Amino acid sequence: MDAISVIRAKRDRQELTGEQIDWVIDAYTRGVVADEQMSALAMAVYLNGMTRAEISRWTAAMIASGERMDFGALDRPTADKHSTGGVGDKITLPLAPLVAACGAAVPQLSGRGLGHTGGTLDKLESIHGWRASLTNAEMMNVLQDVGSVICAAGEGLAPADKRLYALRDVTGTVESLPLIASSIMSKKIAEGTGALVLDVKAGSGAFMKNVEDARELAATMVGLGQDHGVRTVALLTDMNTPLGLTAGNALEVRESVEVLAGGGPADVVELTVALAREMLDAAGLPDADPAKALADGSAMDVWRRMVTAQGGDADAELPTAREHHVVKADTSGVVTRLDAYAIGLAAWRLGAGRARKEDPVQAGAGVELHARPGDHITAGTPLLTLHTDTPEAFAYAEQALTDAWDITDSPSYEPTPLILDRIG
Ligand code: URA
Repeated sequence: MDAISVIRAKRDRQELTGEQIDWVIDAYTRGVVADEQMSALAMAVYLNGMTRAEISRWTAAMIASGERMDFGALDRPTADKHSTGGVGDKITLPLAPLVAACGAAVPQLSGRGLGHTGGTLDKLESIHGWRASLTNAEMMNVLQDVGSVICAAGEGLAPADKRLYALRDVTGTVESLPLIASSIMSKKIAEGTGALVLDVKAGSGAFMKNVEDARELAATMVGLGQDHGVRTVALLTDMNTPLGLTAGNALEVRESVEVLAGGGPADVVELTVALAREMLDAAGLPDADPAKALADGSAMDVWRRMVTAQGGDADAELPTAREHHVVKADTSGVVTRLDAYAIGLAAWRLGAGRARKEDPVQAGAGVELHARPGDHITAGTPLLTLHTDTPEAFAYAEQALTDAWDITDSPSYEPTPLILDRIG
């Protein structure tokens, strides 16, 4: 077998054989297939696609490139959630302890933000002392003692995906449905969870801008999970508007703690509870009541124990930005659009995100929303507050916000539902 014949086959729109896929993924992981050859193959996949059988085999080969974790020794079923990423998407923070409080174990491997979307690990690192990197043994101990853990994936998990994702990032091949589905699912299946709930986002602030592409991605990932014996369902959710009232690291931790205390914005509570119900159902615990676990403080107890077990101080003040700038409504009326991509871009430019993987993030930076679609607002009152340590960023953030909202006098405006569909 050689790389050139595999590249030619995909270039010429042929279906790759199982042997070709196994060989190319294994040879790439071992450094036998060069980055430039894998770039050409990724571009051929981007242009010509893959059949379901090819995607399934490609995913299996990426899983086989590394270790598989096993939570069989735990005394309760495991359930995990994956979001395809959005703006203000802090749901993992309240969700993992909530599902653990209801009786499942939640081994949540999470990532960092890149570009306009935030990352769960960056958010949690705004808690003084909290550690994202745990050994497999530490992860298992936290899971056993507390019931939920949120940490970075170890080096040994799907190493083929780590190399390939970095390559796709710099070769214009990220936005390929077969490559996205196999990348996400290889990590989630290798992680060893028994049940998986996918939050597949559609809209301006998401990878998939339109609902039909998001639906196809969701159906492909659900199929891949089921092929590998993981009970998988997906919710298709709106990402034209940011989730909640904050986008930025410490700002989102604060909002998540409000949800765990029984308050918080209605949309964040709605999605947290809906995803918790799906996870508990898929884990074989359909009678658990997540709304009760939020109201009676048991989810908050698990959160505090989880933060402490990972070195964090659950009582420490969260960092705040040194500088603030208020953006006021330019007219009176009903807010009918608040664009997720523009808000995410503004938060990123204020310092909440990074341009390169190795850049630091500002814990206190981000955007706070004072109104959401459907709310009435009066001209001259605050619509957004921008937070940063670097005030020169205000001008760049305001540029990102030039066409970020509509305020109209339409009295009949109905906001789009948050949960668009369920697949699985
Ligand atoms: N997240 C991943 O892990 N992989 C992709 O390809 C896209 C998003």
